[in-house]
Amino acid sequence: MNTDYFRPVSHTFMAETTPTSNGTVNAIKRDSAVAHAKGSPGTYSAPSRVTLHLEHLPSKNIKAPWPRTPSRVDPNNPPWPAYRGYHEYSFAHATMGVRLPTILGKAIDDTSRTLNEQSNEDKIVDLVQCLERMDLLMADLSGNAKLRPIIDDGEGDVALWNKEIAKYFQGKDFMNAPWLFAEAYKYRRLHECFSVSRYWKDYDVFYRQKCDTFARSADAVFELSMRFAEPFKQSENISDKEKAETERLMFLELTQVCLWGNSTDLSLLINMTEDQIKSLQSTGGEHLAATEKNILGNHMNQLWETVKVLPEKTGGRIDFVLDNAGFELYCDFVYADFLIQSGLAKQIRFHGKRYPWFVSDVTRNDWSWLLNTMVYGHLFPKASEAERESLRRLGARWKQYENDGRWTYEQHPFWCTGYTFWDLHSEAPDLFLHLSHSDLVFFKGDLNHRKLTYDCAAPASIPFDVAIGPMASAAGAPKVCSLRTIKSDVVVGLGDDGDVIAEKLDKEEPGWKISGKYAVVLLSEGRPGEKVRFA
Ligand code: F6P
Ligand code: MG
Repeated sequence: MNTDYFRPVSHTFMAETTPTSNGTVNAIKRDSAVAHAKGSPGTYSAPSRVTLHLEHLPSKNIKAPWPRTPSRVDPNNPPWPAYRGYHEYSFAHATMGVRLPTILGKAIDDTSRTLNEQSNEDKIVDLVQCLERMDLLMADLSGNAKLRPIIDDGEGDVALWNKEIAKYFQGKDFMNAPWLFAEAYKYRRLHECFSVSRYWKDYDVFYRQKCDTFARSADAVFELSMRFAEPFKQSENISDKEKAETERLMFLELTQVCLWGNSTDLSLLINMTEDQIKSLQSTGGEHLAATEKNILGNHMNQLWETVKVLPEKTGGRIDFVLDNAGFELYCDFVYADFLIQSGLAKQIRFHGKRYPWFVSDVTRNDWSWLLNTMVYGHLFPKASEAERESLRRLGARWKQYENDGRWTYEQHPFWCTGYTFWDLHSEAPDLFLHLSHSDLVFFKGDLNHRKLTYDCAAPASIPFDVAIGPMASAAGAPKVCSLRTIKSDVVVGLGDDGDVIAEKLDKEEPGWKISGKYAVVLLSEGRPGEKVRFA
């Protein structure tokens, strides 16, 4: 990997971060206004000398223009400076300039492979046209074209996309629009290549990769299945106190399993060997104890305090806004299974994507594939019979949860838009209302974290509740927990020393923000119980 990308990025958005001279300008204006008011009408002449009275200005702690006041925040102007593709030495630049074209190139290869397997002429011709559209997208991406509106392909998100483009991104291109929006836009355009076709509307260019990576995760898959196939049961001979402690420890361990499951992300792990994947996925107890120190913002204890009282309070509905398919989804299921079996939750709602998104994100197809392959598949020829049986048992139990409604899969169109979650309550009020009925909403992964925090250069010491704006402060906001391995620039919630910690890592471990070695588990206060009101 080109280490140039890891050079600090702050200097690249100088123009946005240079404090304005508003204080002084205002003082001058105020002075001449006073002079004007003193003279009689019509006799005003400019004072020969302007005296500035600056005593009222604070001599230090002059407020930088960040964060923007909420009324000045919009998708092109996040609360802190946006990351944009033209910031040359940033991960945004590396992604827009190198990673996205590579990902698109691989998608074209996948589609060509499918084309070569077809026999029906109508389908072939239709798929050739999809490929032609992908070539155009590649030209737009590498030629840094302006962002055009999305074609009306009947998807539920077209209006949201085109409103956002028209309002905030007219004339913007892939490189000067905020990175988050431009990157999401590329995946929407990729979907459009297929959604306007006749036979290939639901074609998933990443499906092969997603299945393949799960198949290559055998060690970690069986480590978990052998341990958790047997339903969780407390031993009879221990005191209530000991039972509570066992439950707490299990909860903390599985929270980490769910968290670190996020370090396997196909958009970054292209071309990883099986051994490299293995080392990322090791889930053993010792490994987890060691990795806890890499959780830089760690609210796991507060999380436990929140979850342990759910059964008495409301019976417990927990939501997961999912991230990646395959191994990460499998880890999410292990965690959700424990929440159900322990009685901490009665109902779990999983939120996935309507179409292929950021390479590895979960679609309904990925969800069904995982459950069915666990029960019926022949993915692991080298596994022992006991291992295969453990996987079948887990899969069967999880399918049962789905059948009896304890687990549900949902896919709101908002999750595949370029909006951040600061706009969730205003752009998808139905979804916000739905989430406001949840006791706890987990947001998995890096992209969801970027969307929660507006993907901008907020200081690392900024509290999570401040960084997620209306998702913490709007009436009815549920408790939100971000389980994220750090794979991109935005880092918040590291506590009062956060800026010092971040600076030290910048110096000592360049690339710490994209390696996936570090993580955060951050919990918001939430405002559940308050009535949601929409204008
Ligand atoms: O392209 C960058 C990115 O969008 C980052 O958010 C992250 O590096 C990766 O892709 C996706 O990670 P995740 O699957 O955890 O959201
Ligand atoms: Mg993802």
